[in-house]
Amino acid sequence: MSLSFDEAVNEIQQAIDRDARNTYSEEVLKRFYDPKYMGKITDPHGYAKIKGSCGDSMEFFLTVHDEKITAAQFMTDGCATTIAAGSMACELAMGKTIKDIPKISQGEILSKLGGLPEENEHCALLASDTLICAANNYSESKKSS
Ligand code: FES
Repeated sequence: MSLSFDEAVNEIQQAIDRDARNTYSEEVLKRFYDPKYMGKITDPHGYAKIKGSCGDSMEFFLTVHDEKITAAQFMTDGCATTIAAGSMACELAMGKTIKDIPKISQGEILSKLGGLPEENEHCALLASDTLICAANNYSESKKSS
């Protein structure tokens, strides 16, 4: 019995989904398929863009009121795990004070994501580094104003 084109596409998609579920945690997949914090903020109070060791880049945009993060967004040209890590970094940043942002480490992002394959752990470092740079950018611009 031969499959129709739609059935064949469906089977391939199911195989990809099965593969992804064997490789990534539910927390990673949830954020990859629905990256709620992916986007840009116009005129952010804090901004940073960093290129990681793998060549992928990440940008963070922060809105800050009374030293607390009230909005956080990220953009990346990286892979699925970079999207999940950027999203988790934004979630962890929301409501935190600027001085607490450096505590959002690669380790914390990895732990909240339920881990990443070893070859993708640097994606969480890129997210942490970029978030911290955006918070520093806010602090620096406040000092100079
Ligand atoms: Fe390079 Fe994810 S940041 S593979």
